[in-house]
Amino acid sequence: MLRKRTLESEASPLQSLVTRDTLRVVGLRPIVTVHLAQSLDGRVALAGKTTPFSTQEGRFCAHAARAAHDAVLVGASTVRIDNPRLTVRDAPGSDPLRVVLASTFALPRGAHALKGDGRALVISARGQSDASEQAALESAGVSLAVAEADAEGRVNIDSALEILAARGVRRLLVEGGAKVVTSFFRARRVDHVSVEIAMCLLGAPGTPMLGALGIALPTQAVRLANVSVERLGENVLVHGDVVYA
Ligand SMILES: NC(=O)c1ccc[n+]([C@@H]2O[C@H](COP(=O)([O-])OP(=O)(O)OC[C@H]3O[C@@H](n4cnc5c(N)ncnc54)[C@H](OP(=O)(O)O)[C@@H]3O)[C@@H](O)[C@H]2O)c1
Repeated sequence: MLRKRTLESEASPLQSLVTRDTLRVVGLRPIVTVHLAQSLDGRVALAGKTTPFSTQEGRFCAHAARAAHDAVLVGASTVRIDNPRLTVRDAPGSDPLRVVLASTFALPRGAHALKGDGRALVISARGQSDASEQAALESAGVSLAVAEADAEGRVNIDSALEILAARGVRRLLVEGGAKVVTSFFRARRVDHVSVEIAMCLLGAPGTPMLGALGIALPTQAVRLANVSVERLGENVLVHGDVVYA
């Protein structure tokens, strides 16, 4: 017991998270962690542009987070703008399943995340799928799934989580962008947050980390508990468990 406590106290916030969640009884949906990097004024990108924020230590942390999860998920715009690989390269560990939410299946042909290695999954919204985009992904060897649509015709978050749970995903890392992260918070399906804060300011028209959450009163704010803060070189990592009002 003493040894276990020592190990946990020596662990980084992300390692502690894995330890805690291993002990937790897993419910019907995956445990969801949001991991983002942003400017000090809360912008995740200059609008429409790839905007790097991470230090070398931050990249290690982000890739260690990927290795600690069964799947990593991004929105269609992040694939269009950043073309991320979503693999583990700057830390030890194996690659998670790569998941993209794309309501119509429309994504750039040959995007890195859509490599036909059996580890890529695109989830569209029922009634929105485009047959030619679907055929292109299928012929590229990408796995496809259709979730229920939300009120805006995009992928319903609970339905996507059900699809992932059925595929054995127990821990899901959501890496952005802002619209997808907002949808996960609006659905109240984020369990943990890790934000790497870079010591820079972007101002408008930088993309804010979150859109509207429907919060009208300070008492309705989403809060973090069990917060830890660590330095990632010049940057700072804030990690915590999400508590909804
Ligand atoms: N700093 C960071 O850590 C970080 C990480 C990732 C991305 N980014 C930045 O974020 C920007 C992209 O973010 P974004 O907010 O514009 O787009 P996003 O969240 O990456 O993707 C949004 C798109 O995903 C699809 N989608 C399907 N179901 C959805 C749902 N339930 N909720 C939301 N979206 C859904 C929609 O496209 P369809 O209509 O095609 O389905 C939607 O327009 C880029 O500039 C990128 O550089 C920053």
